[in-house]
Amino acid sequence: MVRKLAVVNQKGGVGKTTTVLNLGAALAEQNRRVLLIDFDPQAALTASLGLDPYVIRRSAYSLLMSERSSVGRLVVNVRGRLGLIPASVDLASAAVTIGAKRRDAYRLREALERSPIPFDYILIDTPPSLDILTANSLVAATEILLPVQCHYLAMRGVRAVMDMAARIQQGFNPSLRLLGVLPTLYRADSPHAREVLQEIRTVFPSRTFSTIVQYSEALAEAPIVGQPVLEYAPDDPASQAYRALAQEIINHESPS
Ligand SMILES: Nc1ncnc2c1ncn2[C@@H]1O[C@H](COP(=O)(O)OP(=O)(O)OP(=O)(O)O)[C@@H](O)[C@H]1O
Ligand SMILES: [Mg+2]
Repeated sequence: MVRKLAVVNQKGGVGKTTTVLNLGAALAEQNRRVLLIDFDPQAALTASLGLDPYVIRRSAYSLLMSERSSVGRLVVNVRGRLGLIPASVDLASAAVTIGAKRRDAYRLREALERSPIPFDYILIDTPPSLDILTANSLVAATEILLPVQCHYLAMRGVRAVMDMAARIQQGFNPSLRLLGVLPTLYRADSPHAREVLQEIRTVFPSRTFSTIVQYSEALAEAPIVGQPVLEYAPDDPASQAYRALAQEIINHESPS
């Protein structure tokens, strides 16, 4: 079965896009076929892979707006075993156009189910809001990955994400589950970050990944050259962290 992970947090700048890109690259290193979907009109994931969201023609917009879209025709092969359905700037207008009707929340799910998908993992990057794009991602997903920044007040928005996930699970997608909470932007020298990490582990005792993504300059630099950090700085602690995260996630694969 294809595992579909929605990477969600309504708070901005917590490492959602960074996680989709680098977890995807790490899973591909482990011979998994990975599809990344950029479902954020900011198109940071698309740009981080060196594509220009202003000139893209076939994009995630079609997944939402065309009832006959074929996933296979939208995929850009960005690396071996790593495909991307990019975002284009018109994704923002899609989010405004749709959303009034209950069935609008099923659009992404139906698009993914319409076509046979030769991937082991689909990672969906979502915008920093609990809007119709995030709702579509949660209805389409099998699992949620929640990155939480190890900063003051970071846990305050988590409740709203969990409430939305519960509503989607009850009303739309009963098999949706929380795969894990990923502490990000951690600074070992900050007492504050250590407190927040402790709080995350207290709130999610069985759901916090063992992997912690530390603050790393290489992670901030890699998108500028259009590469995952695993290529840009393979030995950086951030690369090691995303490899360890991939391994934790692979350990949850059901035997086939
Ligand atoms: N562990 C890290 N160390 C240093 N910089 C990081 C780290 N993780 C992410 N960043 C940088 O922080 C910024 C925000 O990260 P990212 O874009 O992944 O967050 P996001 O949650 O997707 O944001 P948005 O909600 O706006 O989509 C980016 O410039 C990214 O390169
Ligand atoms: Mg992002």
